[in-house]
Amino acid sequence: KRIVVLYGGFSTEREVSLVSGQACADALRSKGHDVALVDPADGVKTLVAALDPDRDIVFNALHGHLGEDGSVQGLLDLLRVPYTHSGLLASAVAMNKALSRDIFTRAGLRCAAGKLCTRDDFRDGHPLPPPYVIKPVAEGSSKGVRIVQAGDNAIASDEDWHYGDHVLVEKFIEGRELTVAVLDGKALAVTELRTSEGFYDYDSKYTAGRTQHLIPAPIPAEITEQALRWAEIAHTVLGCRSLSRSDFRYDDRPEAGSDGGLYILETNTQPGMTPLSLAPEQAAYVGISFADLVDGLVKTARY
Ligand code: DAL
Ligand code: MG
Repeated sequence: KRIVVLYGGFSTEREVSLVSGQACADALRSKGHDVALVDPADGVKTLVAALDPDRDIVFNALHGHLGEDGSVQGLLDLLRVPYTHSGLLASAVAMNKALSRDIFTRAGLRCAAGKLCTRDDFRDGHPLPPPYVIKPVAEGSSKGVRIVQAGDNAIASDEDWHYGDHVLVEKFIEGRELTVAVLDGKALAVTELRTSEGFYDYDSKYTAGRTQHLIPAPIPAEITEQALRWAEIAHTVLGCRSLSRSDFRYDDRPEAGSDGGLYILETNTQPGMTPLSLAPEQAAYVGISFADLVDGLVKTARY
């Protein structure tokens, strides 16, 4: 069968996806597959015309809006073309940080205190006592994320409001950044991300040398166990398929006046597959090469 790698797309993570897709296509070719690369941004008609339901499998290397949020998954369901990663519903729910918080909380996982806010919630100052994090509800790679510290101004002007109708505002969890990839229901490892400056933002994620990846994370064994289990639970309760990656904060200084411990931030259903990305790194850590990981995802493709 031919494998059509979807990459690029329409989201703010387009550049990341171009790198992910090229890496996956190269890996699939190294495994002997017939591979075509298709960018949905070239036109949806072109995409539909390029797909042959009798012959093709889609490897989805898209990230973000219209690629990770159920849209392309729904199109492929209709076309009856099997595709990798999660289906429509899990993709849509996981992409929405507010909805997935509710599902995590109901499953007994802890999220930072937070709420969905509108522009009006900022008119009289901060919607939560700082420090807090402002997050677009459905973005990836930290696009649009802003940390508001004590002493910073709240969003004051309408020009500063780039978030559409709603934005998620969460208490900022002091401490450390962790991530856990789950492959076929099983957590792979815990990585700690240590940035040289600021938080693990877009530049720290995609600039070589800006962030140290510590694997396994140098954290207490019980926190490792908890992060592994929570990532598996998140994968399951969201209904994810094959590969996901959940991101966490770990407050290791509860004496500083907070509750301490682990908080889940979100689950990514289309984790990055770039050379600096974390899920492939964890797969390699447990002995699964990049090419084997990508080839294995193809075997799980369905509609
Ligand atoms: N959203 C990016 C691609 C990630 O989670 O790796
Ligand atoms: Mg994300």
